Amino acid sequence: MTDSLNRVVNALNEVAETSLVWQRGLLNTGGPHRVLSGTLFPISIGEDECAVFGRLIEQFRPAHAFIVGNAFGFSSCYIADVMRHHGGKSLVTLDSEIEGNGQDCAAVARRLADKLELTLLKNKKGRSPADTAWAVEAARHDLVFIDADHSHPQVTYDFEAILPFTDSKTIFVWHDFWLSGIVPCLRVAEKQGMRWLWLPTSCEMVLGVRDEAIFANLQKMFPDGVENQQPHSPLLAPAILAKEFARQAWDAVTKPVLSRLNTFRRTLSD
Ligand SMILES: C[S@@+](CC[C@H](N)C(=O)[O-])C[C@H]1O[C@@H](n2cnc3c(N)ncnc32)[C@H](O)[C@@H]1O
Repeated sequence: MTDSLNRVVNALNEVAETSLVWQRGLLNTGGPHRVLSGTLFPISIGEDECAVFGRLIEQFRPAHAFIVGNAFGFSSCYIADVMRHHGGKSLVTLDSEIEGNGQDCAAVARRLADKLELTLLKNKKGRSPADTAWAVEAARHDLVFIDADHSHPQVTYDFEAILPFTDSKTIFVWHDFWLSGIVPCLRVAEKQGMRWLWLPTSCEMVLGVRDEAIFANLQKMFPDGVENQQPHSPLLAPAILAKEFARQAWDAVTKPVLSRLNTFRRTLSD
């Protein structure tokens, strides 16, 4: 798991310039997360959240996995790297390249997968839910990760589109429980007989499955998880996002000034 993370981080540093964000986690201790340098979005999952995937893959050895929302490929390359060491066969990602500089992100994702020689990983450009059935390459998936547009009802659409390609043993993972689209989607998942476990990771992940024995196993693996966690106040997400925009605007203004000041200091001391 740690080897995979080191491999992905080192390869990413070779193919693109990235910056760390939320170095100690956003809502809970964890992180850091990454962005392509000079951009605000998309933001990758945190390193602590990679570790959750690592543990899931080690334990359940998924053969086929599907990700909605790939960005510059951080989570997909990590998941594919762990999967290939645990008998994994295919991982397909679907991304519409809508967020930030989507084309640059897709190019980095391609370079990263090539650098790591992840032959089981296929990144596809397309929009969920319309392109999901076209994108899938397996009749059923063992692991599904939903991390695209987190608004309501888009998350539910993402879930419903991949649902026919799953079964009772499929483990679903959602990222960003604190954003508005996740809880309504979880209510729909509950109607499909799913139980779900909230995890206190940096951005709060949720694991869901219909099979009771697998759910019991997840509860054992993640004893700090909470089944049916209460939703946050609707004011939390706007407050976090406003704070984040302010922080990034502040960085955008102060970083060039500080960097010029440092250059000036170095020139003086030479
Ligand atoms: C938060 S980022 C994904 C981060 C990625 N999972 C990681 O950790 O490295 C969200 C991505 O979802 C994509 N996206 C947004 N809406 C989408 C949709 N309807 N269908 C497919 N991709 C979408 C965006 O282009 C963006 O790249």
